[in-house]
Amino acid sequence: MNYEIERLSLHADGVARGPDGTVHVAMALPGEVVEGDVVDGRIAQPKIIIPSPERVKAPCPHYRSCGGCVMQHASEGFTAAWKMDVVRQALIARGLAVPEMTIATSPLQSRRRATFSGRRTKKGTLVGFHARASDTVVEIPNCLILRRELLSIVSMLHEATALAGSRKGEIAFAVTLSEAGLEIAASGGKDPDPAQFETLSGLARQYDLARLSWNAEVIAARRPAIQQFGKAQVVPPPGAFLQATHHGEAALVAFAKAAVGSALHVADLFAGCGTFALPLAEQAEVHAVEGSAAMTDALDQGWRQAQGLHRVTTETRDLFRRPLLPDELAKFDAVVIDPPRAGAQAQVAEIAASGLPRLVHVSCNPVTFARDAETLLDAGFTLEKLLVVDQFRFSAHVELAALFTR
Ligand SMILES: C[S@@+](CC[C@H](N)C(=O)[O-])C[C@H]1O[C@@H](n2cnc3c(N)ncnc32)[C@H](O)[C@@H]1O
Repeated sequence: MNYEIERLSLHADGVARGPDGTVHVAMALPGEVVEGDVVDGRIAQPKIIIPSPERVKAPCPHYRSCGGCVMQHASEGFTAAWKMDVVRQALIARGLAVPEMTIATSPLQSRRRATFSGRRTKKGTLVGFHARASDTVVEIPNCLILRRELLSIVSMLHEATALAGSRKGEIAFAVTLSEAGLEIAASGGKDPDPAQFETLSGLARQYDLARLSWNAEVIAARRPAIQQFGKAQVVPPPGAFLQATHHGEAALVAFAKAAVGSALHVADLFAGCGTFALPLAEQAEVHAVEGSAAMTDALDQGWRQAQGLHRVTTETRDLFRRPLLPDELAKFDAVVIDPPRAGAQAQVAEIAASGLPRLVHVSCNPVTFARDAETLLDAGFTLEKLLVVDQFRFSAHVELAALFTR
């Protein structure tokens, strides 16, 4: 039986109507006619009968097997329009007006951090990403999204997996490019014994890593794993959150700096290690609030060693349980907020109840963003403009920054 694709799901599956209800179709585009076996409401291996004019040949040789990308069969223009439409539809679903919107798409080979999986097998080791909807590890020597530096370390990850991995469990290697070279935060597997510790430390030297940690224990700290945030240099704790590409980070920071405008006192909530706080300190005093003490410490150190910045204060605080209250918010002319995927319901409720005139909301989840936006619009804010950021090329992931004023 043939199915016609009507739209994409939030996971970028094609969605068609079948006799027994909705059918999800892997790697299909709107307007296409496909056929295939429906198992549990899904066609995993569709045959494309009528292709979309937006269909392109996937540029990556690993696309069929690797589960890291889901949009390589679509043109760049289609993907950009679809990601903006995901945000538009999330707002429309709540009856909210959609403002002016632009998109910034990171170039290929620009991801500066990625988590590789390592597994021992009968024959040796596998290091790469998971296959589609599977825990099989697929090797990705020609991956198109990662910075070359990240791929250059895969042979070391094989050696580390052979040493400390097992056939039952998997090791997650979070690899990040810093100004001082690569750093690896490994987790999983057994804690290395003293002999393995020594060998891993030798590997860190041989591959010239800036830092290597395993299950949060630092094995080698050869150079400070510095990240540059505006004029400040910060050494984040192992595996700490960072924006995925320099390009995406620059687009978000430029948006936030322009949106904050002439505000002199700014709060940066869910501040991480200072991605926004430190560049904003070039134009305003900033109070940075973050749940992880290791991150606020790193931010504070970075500010203390930088030259030419306004004052930055830090506070370690759980903003889900103890959001900033209206009397605390009254000290600021603008707030930047960048919560995790769950959004910032409690904090946004306090912002709505406060007199704050200007808010920059950065979000990695259009659905929770739209929920928070509704609360803000009900409290008299206007959603002025939106920037969609695609720093997870070829994935279904959508990020955005929005300016609210009142
Ligand atoms: C999306 S990241 C943004 C970090 C930073 N703004 C950046 O761009 O690098 C969200 C941050 O919120 C922090 N976080 C998560 N839950 C929190 C909570 N309940 N209270 C305060 N911070 C929290 C995380 O540690 C993380 O640094």
